[in-house]
Amino acid sequence: MSKTRLAILISGRGSNMTALADAIARDEIKNCELALVISDKAEAKGLRLARQRNINTLVIERGGQQTRDAHDTEIIRALRQHDITLVCLAGYMRLLSPMFINAFPNGILNIHPSLLPSFPGLHAPRQALDYGVKITGCTVHFVDEGLDSGAIIAQFSVPVLDDDTEESLSARILIEEHKLYAQALKLIVSCNYQINARRILWNKDK
Ligand code: GRF
Repeated sequence: MSKTRLAILISGRGSNMTALADAIARDEIKNCELALVISDKAEAKGLRLARQRNINTLVIERGGQQTRDAHDTEIIRALRQHDITLVCLAGYMRLLSPMFINAFPNGILNIHPSLLPSFPGLHAPRQALDYGVKITGCTVHFVDEGLDSGAIIAQFSVPVLDDDTEESLSARILIEEHKLYAQALKLIVSCNYQINARRILWNKDK
């Protein structure tokens, strides 16, 4: 079976990217090759982490006058040039254009630090604290045209403690994000599935 050629898009720290890269390197996710990491920020710390792992990296920044479509077109071109078939967003801080999403049907994943559909958007752990929930968590989902609204692939819950700050809660969620993203990627590359409305139904292994 030919390997899934994966690209990861980042904008910053890159801890989820390294979690996926390391799970692939440990052969925990078979039939998957991390072929490219793209950052839209030249200063993203994750770029150094990818280069340390000898992963191909590209910086594709959005120019001051550039439209979202023009920027996404550049990224799609790079993905095509590298024969990418699956894209993981990992702290990529831009909403993708419909054109980008249509270029990779059910081929773009994202991780979000809440139990969606609660607390989409920025500062999800802070939103959870402000709301007063006792349980939050993380979600891996397909990317659609909305904000953190695509079909859910996997979720993991994390308790909110009385003395939590945004930092402590984010850190506890992040530990689970790293595990969940690798598990979800493994499911996507190794299982057959159908998407029935919003529900993902898993079939036997490929
Ligand atoms: C993570 O919390 C992820 O859930 C969210 O952005 C953050 C990225 O962190 N989408 P990192 O760059 O992977 O360390």
